[in-house]
Amino acid sequence: MDTKKGTNHHTKTITFRVQRFDPNRDAEPRLQEYTFPVSQGMTVLDCLIYIKEKLDGSLSFRASCRMGICGSCAMFVNGFPILTCHTQTFELNADVIEIRSLPNYPIIKDLIPDLTMLFEKHKSIKPYIIRTDIKEIESPTREYHQSPQELEDYLQFSYCLKCGICLSACPTVATDRAFIGPQALGQAFRYNNDTRDGGTAERLDAIDHPHGVWRCHMAGACADACPKGVDPAMAAQLLKRQAAAAVFGRGKKAKPAGVAPEPKNVSRRPNIPDAPPRTVE
Ligand code: SF4
Ligand code: FES
Repeated sequence: MDTKKGTNHHTKTITFRVQRFDPNRDAEPRLQEYTFPVSQGMTVLDCLIYIKEKLDGSLSFRASCRMGICGSCAMFVNGFPILTCHTQTFELNADVIEIRSLPNYPIIKDLIPDLTMLFEKHKSIKPYIIRTDIKEIESPTREYHQSPQELEDYLQFSYCLKCGICLSACPTVATDRAFIGPQALGQAFRYNNDTRDGGTAERLDAIDHPHGVWRCHMAGACADACPKGVDPAMAAQLLKRQAAAAVFGRGKKAKPAGVAPEPKNVSRRPNIPDAPPRTVE
């Protein structure tokens, strides 16, 4: 490691072996090498941006927020799926870093996976609050009631970024692309466990089939890899319990929470402007 005198600026020469694939030209992905000095503080995504800006403008990859929020920069780095914007290059402690697109997905180009499978599975479990009081949903009078503890019961699962890392780590998805997969199971549990929701039966129908929740063998690779601590493996086991309870007529009985009671003895603070008018009807 070189140290420039008088500064705290460390650099290290690293070779990146980066997956290249042009569907119009290549039969198989190949690896292309780029070697350059990496500065301390550069993330793996910063290194890819450096390659694209300084060495090879033809390299394609996907990224957006650069702060671990959007999930679009997920890649397979030195054999493990990670968010590249959230990984310090020096922390990999390697002189050679291999970067591929996420396994288990078709490749669109270079490092860009086709995530259609992820979003189709996600949509299939109806990832939204389902209720029968349509009038209240369309013209809400107040928020639905939910206690801080009830929020805690599903909060962890609501952190999902839809990055797709868990599907790329899952050994069952590797052998059965129709398996509903950890991300959708995590989100089915998130909504089933939300006290404002009344859609548990519909979601259990969506996951209780030959490629559904029962195919999860609890390998736990999804939970190990998830960058947000969602733990889809645990969600899958809890969903199995919900599905079995429903078969024996012991499923969720409580009605979805109603609107919160009108606050009492509350006066509006002065100088708070009115809410802007609705933009959609
Ligand atoms: S559960 Fe975790 S790994 Fe899977 S898509 Fe959501 S954030 Fe990514
Ligand atoms: S660029 Fe958004 S999570 Fe990495």
